[in-house]
Amino acid sequence: MQRVEKFLKDAGVYYLATVDGDQPRVRPFGTAHIFEGRLYIQTGKIKEVSKQIHANPKVEVCAFLNGEWLRVAGTLVEDDRREARQSMLDAYPDLQAMYSADDGNTEVFYFKDATATFSSFTKEPESISF
Ligand SMILES: Cc1cc2nc3c(=O)[nH]c(=O)nc-3n(C[C@H](O)[C@H](O)[C@H](O)COP(=O)(O)O)c2cc1C
Repeated sequence: MQRVEKFLKDAGVYYLATVDGDQPRVRPFGTAHIFEGRLYIQTGKIKEVSKQIHANPKVEVCAFLNGEWLRVAGTLVEDDRREARQSMLDAYPDLQAMYSADDGNTEVFYFKDATATFSSFTKEPESISF
């Protein structure tokens, strides 16, 4: 899982795909943070992406870096504990200009039943489950 977090952080941006009825939706994301042994992402409840995740928590993310790409497919679970939100904000101080742990908007999700697959044109894919 540390390798997945590092890849996402090093890539700087990854693309998060959600399901919206029968329409896939995708957008750039940047947050990736391990807290209590789980991989978290952050968003805001007011966003469409949040509504889509609550309606259908199965998501996939994809990032590309240095000839290698990573896909993480799994189910997102909201962690509504203040300490989970605060840990994310502590890891991303720039977010604190827009979000706070008690603003009623900030939310964090962790990956459950996740499969991360590292691929490249030159090596066999490697998968990790967490
Ligand atoms: C590089 C980059 C990183 C971003 N990271 C996040 C993020 O971690 N969480 C988030 O909620 N929005 C993030 N955004 C903003 C979302 O992409 C944007 O709010 C998007 O419109 C949300 O999707 P939606 O319109 O389907 O709700 C990021 C944008 C960029 C350009």
